[in-house]
Amino acid sequence: MKRPANDRSLRTFPGPLLLLGAGKMGFAMLEGWLKRGLAPGKIIVLEPQPGKTVKALARRGLKLNPKGKAPITAAIVIAVKPQSAPEAVPAVRGYAGKGTLVLSIMAGRTIQFLESALPAGMAIVRAMPNTPAAIGRGITVAAPNAKVSARQRKQADDLLSAIGSVEWVSDEGVMNAVTAVSGSGPAYVFLLAEAMTKAGIAAGLPAALAAKLARETVAGSGELLHRSELDAATLRQNVTSPGGTTAAALEVLMGPGGFDEILTKAIAAATRRGRELAG
Ligand SMILES: NC(=O)c1ccc[n+]([C@@H]2O[C@H](COP(=O)([O-])OP(=O)(O)OC[C@H]3O[C@@H](n4cnc5c(N)ncnc54)[C@H](OP(=O)(O)O)[C@@H]3O)[C@@H](O)[C@H]2O)c1
Repeated sequence: MKRPANDRSLRTFPGPLLLLGAGKMGFAMLEGWLKRGLAPGKIIVLEPQPGKTVKALARRGLKLNPKGKAPITAAIVIAVKPQSAPEAVPAVRGYAGKGTLVLSIMAGRTIQFLESALPAGMAIVRAMPNTPAAIGRGITVAAPNAKVSARQRKQADDLLSAIGSVEWVSDEGVMNAVTAVSGSGPAYVFLLAEAMTKAGIAAGLPAALAAKLARETVAGSGELLHRSELDAATLRQNVTSPGGTTAAALEVLMGPGGFDEILTKAIAAATRRGRELAG
């Protein structure tokens, strides 16, 4: 079985670290950093509507919406909605110095957009996480601009690995496809659980039992896939005896108009939409 990859400490992270936007994803990152030992005193949060936990952290040294002269930070993490970016991002300019790393998780906002909204010559990483980040089990794909040093790349990797696994790409152009597979992917998996529930009811199960079977099967199989050294195809083959019940279902799912075809179409549609939204 594989070891969890995201067990790195942030105790020695230089700080200060600025988080712009402590909504769902920003807060998940903040929680991940604290769990990995980042001291609240090293963190600055800019957030118009901070939740209870962020306010409580402010009593433990986290600086929440500070007034006065902005300190130069080691890193700035941008986690506001893409549509808030033109108005929100300029607020971080005062915190950006020569060595500052800028890490953006905004969907669809390009490195070029960030370069034009920030002081010239900044080291920028554009990243795309996904919702299992909320339980430290996300997958993030990260792309650096040419200004990112090896040290800054390691810093970005340390910050992102607090919410799950991290993959690096050199070509930002793949981000729409990444968004279509892993960014939007959790919705496809939840839909699978919904569809299995409905199909279970149609096959004669009580609704509550069908929902529980679907939920636990999706969750347990996901966990097995996560922990196993085997790939998905091998795990599937291992539970399929020739001529058996699983084989009968897979004949339908893998036949014409089945899973492969539908998911290829769905992911192509999401990729296209990403391109349209990016303009
Ligand atoms: N959630 C996901 O699964 C996911 C996956 C991949 C990428 N992302 C990216 O992560 C980013 C955040 O998404 P989210 O789901 O976490 O959204 P969210 O919950 O709406 O969080 C955004 C936060 O930023 C705050 N904010 C708005 N304007 C601000 C400003 N001027 N200064 C400081 N903070 C400001 C918002 O406050 P108000 O509520 O007051 O507006 C909100 O708390 C998005 O760019 C999204 O594309 C999210």
